[in-house]
Amino acid sequence: MKDLLAKRVKTLTPSTTLAITAKAKELKDQGIDVIGLGAGEPDFNTPQNILDAALESMNKGFTKYTPAGGLPALKQAIIDKLSRDNQLQYKQNEIIVGIGAKHVLYTLFQVILDEGDEVIIPIPYWVSYPEQVKLAGGVPVYVESDAAQNFKITAAQLREAITEKTKAVIINSPSNPSGMVYTREELTELAAVAVEHDILIVSDEIYEKLLYNGVEHFSIAQLSDEVKARTIVVNGVAKSHSMTGWRIGYAAGDAEIIKPMTDLASHSTSNPTTTSQYATIEAYNGPQNSVEEMRQAFESRLEVIYPKLSAIPGFKVLKPQGAFYLLPDVSEAAAKTGYNSVDDFVTALLTEANVAVIPGSGFGVPSTIRLSYATSLELLEEAVKRMDNFVRSKWQD
Ligand SMILES: Cc1ncc(COP(=O)(O)O)c(C=O)c1O
Repeated sequence: MKDLLAKRVKTLTPSTTLAITAKAKELKDQGIDVIGLGAGEPDFNTPQNILDAALESMNKGFTKYTPAGGLPALKQAIIDKLSRDNQLQYKQNEIIVGIGAKHVLYTLFQVILDEGDEVIIPIPYWVSYPEQVKLAGGVPVYVESDAAQNFKITAAQLREAITEKTKAVIINSPSNPSGMVYTREELTELAAVAVEHDILIVSDEIYEKLLYNGVEHFSIAQLSDEVKARTIVVNGVAKSHSMTGWRIGYAAGDAEIIKPMTDLASHSTSNPTTTSQYATIEAYNGPQNSVEEMRQAFESRLEVIYPKLSAIPGFKVLKPQGAFYLLPDVSEAAAKTGYNSVDDFVTALLTEANVAVIPGSGFGVPSTIRLSYATSLELLEEAVKRMDNFVRSKWQD
C-alpha cells in the first residue's frame, strides 16, 4: 500500500509521560509491585460539590451542545476567577473554553502559526509544547536554562533567541517539570523584551494553585495593559481542582485571537463536554477550601520527601516552589552505578528497583529524572528508599 501518513505526524513523538506510565502499568499487571512516580495528575478525587453539580446538570437535561467556545455562564465564572485571583479583567469575547489546557494550547498554535514561524520554548519544557508547535507548522526554538539559573531563562537569553520569524514565547510558571516560579521582577524583564520585539506571550498557568512555602502566583498579564494585550493566559481546573479527566481548560486574551480559536473549535470539537462545563462552573463559583487542602497535602509531602531524595548519593535536587514534581540531576548517580545514560538508569530503576520515573530527556534535560509527588506519602517514602538502596548497592568509586 502507498504511504498513507502525512509528513507532519511522521516526526511526532508520543508523550514520554504517558509511555512510562503505560510501561509501569504493564509490569503491575504482571504482578510486580511497581511504584509509579510518573503521574501528571493529583491523586485526589474531584471534590464532592463539583461531582454533585455535574450530576444535577445532567438530571436537569443539560446534556446538549453548547456554544463552541463554552457556556456563557462558565465564561463568566472564569472571568470572575481571573478578576478575583489575578486582578485581570476580561470580557466574554476574550475567553475560550476548550478540552483541557492542552487542547486550548493546540488550538492557539494552529491559529497563530504559519509554516516556519518560530516559538521560543524555555528548557526544561512540558513535553507537548514542541510537538504542538511543530504540528502547526511552527519551529520550536529552545532556550537553555539549567539548575545553576534555577531552570529559568533570562531576558538576555530571550532577546538573543528572537528572530524576524518569532511569533511567541511560552512562559510556564509554576513549571512542569522543574517546579520553579518566575518572580515579578523576572517577568517584568521578560515582558519588556516581548513588548520591544512585538511578540506574543503564551502564559501557561495551569499549576497556579500549587505553590509552597509562601510563594505567591503572579501572572505576567498583570504587569500592565500593554503586556496583558499581548499575553494569552492559559489555565484550567485539571490540577487546581483535581479534574484532569473532565478535560476543561481555557484561554484568556485578545479577542482577535480568541475568535479564530473559537471558529476552529466549532469545526473540530463543537464544544467542550457539556457536563464538564457545568462541573467547572461549580469548581470556580463554589467553595475553594478543597483546593487549599490539596495544596497543603502536596506541601507536606514535599517537606518530607525533598530531604530524603537529596540524600541519595549522586542526586542533586533543587527544591521546587510549585507544581508537584521534583527534577533531580542524577547524572552522577547514573555514571557511578554503571549506566551510560540517564535513560538507561531510568530503565534500571523501573525493572530492578521497581520505581517508575520519567527520564528528563523528554523535557529537554537529559541529565535529570522527573518524579511526581502526586501519590501517598507512604508510597513516596518507600519509592525513595528503593532508589536509595539501588544506588548505594551499585555505587562504584
Ligand atoms: C505545563 C502543563 N500545561 C498544560 C497541561 C494540560 O492540562 P490539561 O489537563 O488541562 O489539558 C499540563 C498537564 O500535564 C501541564 O503540565
